[in-house]
This record gives sequence, C-alpha cells and structure tokens, in this order.
Amino acid sequence: KTVCKVVDSNVNSQINYTQAVDILNAGEVVAFPTETVYGLGAVATNDLAVKKIFEAKGRPSDNPLIVHVGTKEEVEIYIEHISEVAKQCMDLFWPGPLTLVMPAKPNVLAKSVTAGLSTVGIRMPDHPVALALLQQLKKPLAAPSANRSGKPSPTEAVHVLDDLGGYIPYILDGGSTGIGFESTVLDVTHEPPVILRPGGITKEMLEAKIGPVIQPNKVEQKLDTTPKAPGMKYTHYAPNAPVYLIDCQLEKVREAVKQLQHEGHAVALLAPANFENSEADFYFSIGEMGSKQEMGAALYNALRACDKTTATIILATTTSTEGVGAAIMNRLEKASGGKWYSSK
Ligand code: TXA
Ligand code: MG
Repeated sequence: KTVCKVVDSNVNSQINYTQAVDILNAGEVVAFPTETVYGLGAVATNDLAVKKIFEAKGRPSDNPLIVHVGTKEEVEIYIEHISEVAKQCMDLFWPGPLTLVMPAKPNVLAKSVTAGLSTVGIRMPDHPVALALLQQLKKPLAAPSANRSGKPSPTEAVHVLDDLGGYIPYILDGGSTGIGFESTVLDVTHEPPVILRPGGITKEMLEAKIGPVIQPNKVEQKLDTTPKAPGMKYTHYAPNAPVYLIDCQLEKVREAVKQLQHEGHAVALLAPANFENSEADFYFSIGEMGSKQEMGAALYNALRACDKTTATIILATTTSTEGVGAAIMNRLEKASGGKWYSSK
C-alpha cells in the first residue's frame, strides 16, 4: 500500500508545490483541486505515469482522460488543428469548466491519455491551486476525477483520501471545490459542436456566444450503442444504497418516506433545506430550494455521505433541466440508473 500525504495548498505552500512537481516529474500521480472536482494528475506525455491513474482509479482503459493546461498558448503543441469555434471557446470560457474535444497531434501525448481515439479533451482549469501547479510543472496534466471508478467525484480532499488513500502518494488540499460537478465536455470536431457531457458551461451560455450547439437528450444517448464520450456508458456517481429520484414536492416526499419506512427501509433523503422535517432517517440538505448552484455544489458530498449511514435506500429530489440543471439531472440520472420512486 502506498502511503498518502495530504498537504494544505495554502499553508507553507511553496514547499508543497515543489514536492508535488517533483513527484509528478518522477512519474507518479498527485491529486489536486480544480474549480469543478478534484483531479488525479499525471504528466500527460509520460505513458507509464498516466497508466498509474488508471490503476489507482480502477478505470477501464478505453475511457480517455482530460488534459489540463496552465496556458492557452500551449494547446497548439498537442492539437493538430484548432478550429475557429475552439479558439472562440478558449477565449471566452477559459480558464473554466469547459473541456474541448479536438483532433490530437499524433505521438505528442501519452497513448493511454486518448485511449486510442484520434481526439483529445483539453481544458484550462479555473482554480488557483491547479493553475499554480500546472504553471510550476510547465507540463500538461492528464487528470480524471480523483475518485475510484464509479464513485461520485470528490469535492473535498478527504473524499480523495477515502477513495484513493492506499493507492496514491500525494494530495494537494485546496478545500472544497466550488462548482461541485465535472466540466462540460464539448466536441468541437463536429459542426455544430456537440455537448458530450453537460457541465458548468451550459448549452445556453455556449449558444449565446458561438451559435447552435447540440445537446443530445437521454433517449438518443441510450440508442447510441457506442457513446461519444466513452465515460458516459459506465455506471457513475453511485453510492452503495440504490438511489431513486422523486419530484421536489414536500408532500410527495413525506409520503414516500413513510411508505418506504413501512416496508422496512432506512431512508436517506437528499433534498432542499426546507425538507428537513420530512421524517427521513438521514437527511442531507442540497441547499436552498431552487438554487441550482447550491444543489450542484452539495450533490456529490451528499451522495458520498449516504455511504457513511445505514440507509438502505436513497431518495433524491430533482430539478428542471434548464441551465446547470441539465448537468445536475445528468448526474442524478446516472447515480440512480434512471430509477424514479413510485408508490406502487
Ligand atoms: O471537471 C472535470 O472535467 C474533471 C476535473 C478533474 O477536470 N475531470 C473529469 O475527468 O471529470 P473524467 O475523466 O472523470 O471525465 C472525462 C470525460 C469522460 O466522460 C471521457 O469519456 C470524456 O470526458 N472524454 C475525454 N476525452 C475524450 C475524447 N477525446 N472524446 C470524447 N470524450 C472524451
Ligand atoms: Mg470521472
């Protein structure tokens, strides 16, 4: 087992960045915060190092990684052709939670980063710790979310430690991530561009700047036997107990809780702040009613918290798919496997 060191990115920080850079340059992996979720990084040009990410996460090797850069300028080193739309997106939304899928230059990045695809997803994260690390390393970092494959992505260093403590040597602790769910993945090799994974940069935000964007709906994604973002075909973000979705209505939730308890269940409820009197055995607030931002920031933490309870079933209230609601509902659909609570 690997001994894992967790260091504060704010206190005595320079020595910690130097250590992180040394570990990465030695071909090892380091977890670090971004504005979305914690990432597990390895130098993206070192194939042996990148393979350690897949090992630590238990990640299927056909699921490509996102490459993180510290500057916009270096993208041309890794990309065959940067389209006009891609340039616009970089100018308007970087640093930020937008991953751009572009044609990779052959033999520059490590083979396992792209999992055999001819394209690569790149983003410049909007987080002081991630940016400081990248800028001191002066190399790109391949980094998926720093969770064991299938678990909710980590929004705090302790989540990374819980999942990967025995597998990785170093975690830079930058506190809670702000957004709380993963970046938008936008395939700009298509015209119009296609949202492969909804995230913090919404369809609405993109369309206001670059014109029409395709956001495939669930049905299309299910019919598509070879999903475009390979990661989207795997079970994701799932706690141990089964998750059921339910409309965000207090009376409905109260009845469901009562019914499930009657059936012998211990019920965990993920719902807005005003649901605390719903009599659930375990209750996790996902922020003020109607605030998608608070819901997004709290969701993964709440899903993980369920694993620390004796709940046998989890009810999660839903939101509309407007704005970041599309990303939140996408993650909830995955966590629940699309199951909705019904009293029958
Ligand atoms: O916010 C984020 O994006 C976080 C932080 C750490 O940056 N990273 C993250 O990485 O969520 P990961 O590996 O958990 O998710 C990457 C997603 C997967 O669904 C993967 O299949 C897709 O992006 N992806 C990566 N490269 C791709 C490519 N070339 N073509 C299509 N999809 C790609
Ligand atoms: Mg992930």
